[in-house]
Amino acid sequence: MYHYSEEQSELKHLKAPSVWDVNDAAIDNQGDYGKHPAPFSTSLVEKALKYTTTEGELILDPFMGSGTTAVAAIQNERNFVGFELDEEGAYKPIIERRIREAKRQMTASVNQTIADDD
Ligand SMILES: C[S@@+](CC[C@H](N)C(=O)[O-])C[C@H]1O[C@@H](n2cnc3c(N)ncnc32)[C@H](O)[C@@H]1O
Repeated sequence: MYHYSEEQSELKHLKAPSVWDVNDAAIDNQGDYGKHPAPFSTSLVEKALKYTTTEGELILDPFMGSGTTAVAAIQNERNFVGFELDEEGAYKPIIERRIREAKRQMTASVNQTIADDD
């Protein structure tokens, strides 16, 4: 992974801490998407993306699980590609639902901004 310098980072106004305060418990954060045994916290992934990438860049998560990294990528205007072994077929519907919802929220947010500007 390429690491941006503090100056290049979107969070350059913040000093990168060595300990991050993450408020959402990973498991709560999934809400009714849940059922993956080891989901990340979306806000933790979001911070990592903002410190290490810029908008439009491609994020690769080779172990998608419930798709938290994809959600954070969509919400922060990064491109995304991922893999999930999902031998039981349990995670694919969770991933698809979360991606659909994240895209729907982003579209709604853009439409609201356009409406506000009119
Ligand atoms: C710790 S979980 C990832 C959780 C994810 N970050 C989230 O927030 O839901 C790791 C995932 O990697 C998947 N996995 C393990 N080996 C894999 C492989 N060789 N290729 C693709 N996925 C794999 C597992 O099925 C599991 O869902």
